[in-house]
Amino acid sequence: MTTASAPGKVILFGEHAVVYGQPALAAPVTQVQATATLTPLPPSPTGRGGRSEGIWIDARDVGRHYRLEDASSDDPLAAAIRLTFAHFNLPITDDSLRMTLESTIPIASGLGSGAAVCTALVRALANYLNHPLTNAEVSSIVFETEKLLHGTPSGIDNTVIAYGQPVYFVKGQSPIPFNVAHPFQLLIADTGLPSPTKITVGDVRAAREKEPERYEQMFRAIGDIAREARTLIEIGQTPGARFAETLGALMSCNHALLQQLGVSCPELDILAECARAAGAAGAKLSGGGRGGNMLALVTPETESAVRAALEMAGAKRVIGTVVGE
Ligand code: MEV
Repeated sequence: MTTASAPGKVILFGEHAVVYGQPALAAPVTQVQATATLTPLPPSPTGRGGRSEGIWIDARDVGRHYRLEDASSDDPLAAAIRLTFAHFNLPITDDSLRMTLESTIPIASGLGSGAAVCTALVRALANYLNHPLTNAEVSSIVFETEKLLHGTPSGIDNTVIAYGQPVYFVKGQSPIPFNVAHPFQLLIADTGLPSPTKITVGDVRAAREKEPERYEQMFRAIGDIAREARTLIEIGQTPGARFAETLGALMSCNHALLQQLGVSCPELDILAECARAAGAAGAKLSGGGRGGNMLALVTPETESAVRAALEMAGAKRVIGTVVGE
């Protein structure tokens, strides 16, 4: 039996604008995980070619159990398996295997569930084949599967999940892991509304085609926030202002720009407002938007009041994480 896991992720700054070349910051969330387990199956009693032979994909969270050879060409899990064999120039094995996927990352919620499941699968298969992969190799294989899920992904989800550390990311460039001078605490609150990234990314694309200048301006403003946030997080202090206040203000500005891009929704806005009213230094949606999750920047002093406020305001789940620990 071979097992591998991968974390979820949050986009701290820069979602959507990152698709158009602006920088973004993302961090892994180890409190939620996807796990892939490869189990060799006994030979079929009916011999080679029997119905139980071959590679079986057991995607427990979506209730699907199917053979690799029956999977469609746009199935991301099947693509992850095929691409991993192709990466090593190996034919797809004749071994009979069950590949079981389990995940505590909510689906279509902005926490990178698709990329995490594929990352775990690619790693488990590479280990089974005795060819461990570098983070960069895993990321580039998973990027191909992300294209099937999201259409035109920037590559940030597969990158932060495969590297498993906070990254400063610009599309098409090598990711830069960034230093966190002082770890900071986030609450991640789920609206409970599933929202596939492909749809919001497609909507932003269509809106940008109608108003290119306005959208480019908003993307640039988001990029400036991401750059400023990186400096602040790496240095840890700002002259004359407290770190959390400054970082929180940048998060709230980023949220306002995401609202203008048209990717927020009343549920996300309510959670963000309630978090701020209860003492969070800042709050913003994270990921594709129009549902999914929201981040609130808290301190040990404000955490419990903000958590209670988010639960009262209808959050379906609140996860605490520390960036840079
Ligand atoms: C999704 O986590 C982040 C988006 O910017 C899409 C992408 O970068 O591919 C919305």
